Amino acid sequence: MERIILSLIILFVYAVEVVCFSFGDPLCSSHDSLALLQFKHSLNATGDHQYDCPNYFYAKTTSWNTSSMDCCRWDGVICDSFTGHVIGLDLSCSRLEGTIHPNSSLFQLRHLQTLDLSSNNFSGSQFPQGIGQLVSLTHLNLSYCWFKGRIPLGMSHLSNLVSLDLSDNYYPFVHLSQDVFNMLFQNLTKLELLSLSHLNISSSIPMNLSFSSSLRYLNLDNTYLQGDLPKNIFLLPNLETLRLSGNYLTVSLPEFNWSSSTHSLRELDLSFNNVSGGILNSLGTTTLKALKILRLSGCNFAGPFPEFIGNLSQITQLDLSDNYLDGKIPDVFSNLQMLTSLSLKNNNFTGPFPSSLVNLTNLQVLRLRNNSLSGTLPEFKTNSIEILDLSRNQFSGPIPRSLRHLLNLTVVFLGQNKLSGEIGAEMFSSMTNLQYLDLSNSGLSWSGNINTTFPLLYYLGLGSCRVKDFPDFIFNSKKLWILDLSENEIHGQFPKWFGSFGDLVNLNLSHNYLTSLDHLPWATMMILDLQSNSLTGPLPSPICTSTSLYIINLSYNNLSAEIPNCLFTFSRLVVLDLRANNFHGPIPNKFPKNSGLVHISLSKNQLEGSIPTSLVNCTSLKVLDLGNNKIQSTFPPWLETLQELEALILKSNRFYGPIVAFKTKSPFPNMRIFDLSDNSFSGSLPMEVLKGFKAMMYMDAHKSGLEYYVEETINFGISSYDVLYRGLYVESMILVMKNQETKFNKILKIFTTIDLSRNKFEGEIPKFIGNLNSLLLLNLSHNNLTGQIPVEMRNMSTLEALDLSFNHLTGKIPVELASLTFLAVLNLSYNHLVGPIPQSNQFNTFQNDSYFGNSDLCGLPLSNECGHHKSSSVPVEQEEDEPSFLSEMTWQSVLIGYGSGLTFGFGIAYLIYLFERPRWFIDSFETITHEMIYIVQRARKRRRRNFHRRRH
Ligand SMILES: *[C@@H]1O[C@H](CO)[C@@H](O)[C@H](O)[C@H]1NC(C)=O
Ligand SMILES: *[C@@H]1O[C@H](CO)[C@@H](O)[C@H](O)[C@H]1NC(C)=O
Ligand SMILES: *[C@@H]1O[C@H](CO)[C@@H](O)[C@H](O)[C@H]1NC(C)=O
Ligand SMILES: *[C@@H]1O[C@H](CO)[C@@H](O)[C@H](O)[C@H]1NC(C)=O
Ligand SMILES: *[C@@H]1O[C@H](CO)[C@@H](O)[C@H](O)[C@H]1NC(C)=O
Repeated sequence: MERIILSLIILFVYAVEVVCFSFGDPLCSSHDSLALLQFKHSLNATGDHQYDCPNYFYAKTTSWNTSSMDCCRWDGVICDSFTGHVIGLDLSCSRLEGTIHPNSSLFQLRHLQTLDLSSNNFSGSQFPQGIGQLVSLTHLNLSYCWFKGRIPLGMSHLSNLVSLDLSDNYYPFVHLSQDVFNMLFQNLTKLELLSLSHLNISSSIPMNLSFSSSLRYLNLDNTYLQGDLPKNIFLLPNLETLRLSGNYLTVSLPEFNWSSSTHSLRELDLSFNNVSGGILNSLGTTTLKALKILRLSGCNFAGPFPEFIGNLSQITQLDLSDNYLDGKIPDVFSNLQMLTSLSLKNNNFTGPFPSSLVNLTNLQVLRLRNNSLSGTLPEFKTNSIEILDLSRNQFSGPIPRSLRHLLNLTVVFLGQNKLSGEIGAEMFSSMTNLQYLDLSNSGLSWSGNINTTFPLLYYLGLGSCRVKDFPDFIFNSKKLWILDLSENEIHGQFPKWFGSFGDLVNLNLSHNYLTSLDHLPWATMMILDLQSNSLTGPLPSPICTSTSLYIINLSYNNLSAEIPNCLFTFSRLVVLDLRANNFHGPIPNKFPKNSGLVHISLSKNQLEGSIPTSLVNCTSLKVLDLGNNKIQSTFPPWLETLQELEALILKSNRFYGPIVAFKTKSPFPNMRIFDLSDNSFSGSLPMEVLKGFKAMMYMDAHKSGLEYYVEETINFGISSYDVLYRGLYVESMILVMKNQETKFNKILKIFTTIDLSRNKFEGEIPKFIGNLNSLLLLNLSHNNLTGQIPVEMRNMSTLEALDLSFNHLTGKIPVELASLTFLAVLNLSYNHLVGPIPQSNQFNTFQNDSYFGNSDLCGLPLSNECGHHKSSSVPVEQEEDEPSFLSEMTWQSVLIGYGSGLTFGFGIAYLIYLFERPRWFIDSFETITHEMIYIVQRARKRRRRNFHRRRH
């Protein structure tokens, strides 16, 4: 018996050998090898490294050639060992490039059961329309293929599919129509794995959709799905992974007890959807004991930390970031010993650092950024942590000594805290993997340098750390990408070695005491911020090699000579801020075609000549600030072609002449800051221009979408870094943001002003002005205006400050102006106004200095009562010396505040996401809001005081 079995085995082995290594005859059918060769020759195999490919990758098809017709031995080809048919093709990461045609020979391989073309570059190719012919397929992977177009209905013929991955074919998105989507679910009843992430589905999921009951893995992340999420999805008996993040789905959990049916669930990701708040409670009552990954960020959850988390004993990754959770973070983590990643960033948590975290021996990622946590940091008892982000909290006291033992740290973010004491490079010297270190504004002082190196460092942030010297260890950080040494005490020149390390992209040395601008040869640089130093002399020519620059900020220095032409030719430049220097000469007429400039600030220099005509190339321009120079010109009528312009500041120059009629019907529809003050403009008020200011009309700023979305925080995840290096710009950033990384902060965009003061405008104030009913500040003072104050001004319902002083206005003050309930500042002095001062609402709050120098005004607060004819107005009582709001100082700082950043919309905001917002960006925002709050508060105070005063 045994002998028989033995001989059978020998026979079998022999048979297998005959089949596999057949003498001469290839196993592979010539039909299949021809089809494969044709497929090979229809493509190039010279593509670049693709996302998620290993570092070592190669073109598998190079081994395919006619000298060995046995295709079963070719790389990536799998044959059925008995029939010889090609049943599997794995060409992932094979450097393929080109187009897969609808009649490609690939579709002749009818026996294919598995096909993997993932991570090749078929950009330009439509999604393969013939795919439905491969009806034997059980496994299909077309992810990261850069396809475009639509997924054919034929896809739903593949009813044998067990695994289907079409994810991440964006740029542009591959479209999956609702029909095909529904049919996929209906017909592919054997599916266990389905990944459609980043396809454009843009429809709702039908409520009665029948999901394959075998489904274990379902990934519909970022597919623009809308409507209600069918609850039966939670009832799939085998579902282990459910990923739905970044959609517009309304998610609520079924009322019935679904715990028994979903005992298999291991991963649940509902982030960034419209998730009903009750879900936290429902999740609490279910027994998701097996859950390993729970992601509920950006779900608008409010209230305390959900207690049930403490019962998820198997949990490894927990993400509750970007919600409105508050109160203390309870010490529930001692039970969660498997936890490797915890993110609670961007919430409203208060209280101490949860001490039960320090014991978690598997914890690798800890993100508590942007809460209000306080108290001292505990010593860590685990050293597994790799990413530690505690920035933007209120932590105080010294840095824990145990930090130095966390040798696996790659990311350390402690910035924006209230820590104290000194810290130096030696604390990190054993962390050989350190990539990101940010201590900016942490309260810590950076102590002297030691002899250490951080070869992998990408990011070093030591802003406001009392740094006195350039940290010389960065010389060996060949990968350094972002360096922030702003607001320190660095004096003098750049050291000689500076400039010969890394591929610096963002350099921030603002607010130091640097005196010369040598050593800036980085051609890679995108952001250069040297504002508020002591730089003198002309700009050295090496700066002309930094042609990648997006943002140049050299403001508030003492740079002189002419501005080099090259700065204006950088094709990527978005922000050019050279204000408050000593530049002279003309503005170079060098703006390139298709210039992307959004913000030009050249104010407070000695620039001469006129506004260069090539500025018309800057069609994206939002801020043009040329104030306080010596520009001598008429108003250039071609400026009207800059339709995006939001702020035009020409104040304190030598502009002259009338502002002539425009060709466009509504020039400057987005204008919010229009400042021509202190020039010699003449003629009538430029009504043609003002009529175009749609942004100042009919905008109920509190109701309409007049909002800027300014990014609150950015996590320096590796993702943003990758994204930049892969050259995928805005869209991908938005994707990354939408997914995990950010939280938007709404900022009202309501700051609107017109300042035409100190010119030679004449004639009447047109009635039209009343249409500017979203204007906040209007200054027409120091002109030659005549006629009456138009009654229509009563419609300027948002007006907070009005200055018409030093003109020749006549007639009465319209009583209707009393309806301007926001008016906090009024100056009508030095005109020829007559009659009674209105005595209601706001008018009760103004002082006599609002009315000085008018011939015949009467009534409070002036001393001459109406009816009695007394000349001139004598103050009743001296106001304590509070500077008038419209005084030069305040007015100016408001404008500067605006000029330096508020106008960045989404377009360039992405840059700022990438590089952590430069501090001047947020500062200028804060300046402006503080200014506004100050104005309003002061006006209120004043109003109250006057009210009391009059009652006495
Ligand atoms: C392969 O690359 C060559 C050279 O870049 C190009 O001319 C050719 O069109 C490419 N072929 C395909 C099929 O993409
Ligand atoms: C569903 O699958 C069956 C069997 O493979 C096929 O005949 C039918 O055409 C498919 N339906 C659609 C709409 O693809
Ligand atoms: C966060 O908490 C503070 C203080 O408790 C509160 O004033 C603030 O409104 C909260 N913010 C949000 C977004 O809930
Ligand atoms: C951490 O573990 C130690 C013993 O390993 C224990 O004494 C301590 O109480 C734990 N701390 C916390 C906060 O769980
Ligand atoms: C640090 O990282 C290495 C390599 O990934 C790993 O083997 C080691 O266990 C880690 N150390 C700790 C304490 O987690």
